[in-house]
Amino acid sequence: MQFKDILKSVESEGKEKHVPVIEIGKGKGEGGVDIVHVVVGKETPHPNTVEHHIAWIELFGVKKDGQVINLGRAVFAPAYTSPNVRFQVPVAEFKAFCAIAYCNIHGVWENCLEV
Ligand SMILES: [Fe+2]
Repeated sequence: MQFKDILKSVESEGKEKHVPVIEIGKGKGEGGVDIVHVVVGKETPHPNTVEHHIAWIELFGVKKDGQVINLGRAVFAPAYTSPNVRFQVPVAEFKAFCAIAYCNIHGVWENCLEV
């Protein structure tokens, strides 16, 4: 088994609630900085209870030379914080962003966006 065998993506059942959606906001942050926005359940909200919730989101960036950078991780308190996070990132240094999100019931979900 390899790590890719446990990651679920847009082809998997239940994708509407689980796939992390990545959006780039060039210059959209405070003071004109770039923002990478990641949200789970953009179209169809995911449950947010102690029993069933998105526990964390992690963002990776792929630099133009191929180096992968772990850009950050947001951990959520079920029932209090929603899986919706903005990372301040110099977008021009990257050629792609990939996010993974963990649902405590349905596993690890991935998505990537080329820029
Ligand atoms: Fe779930």
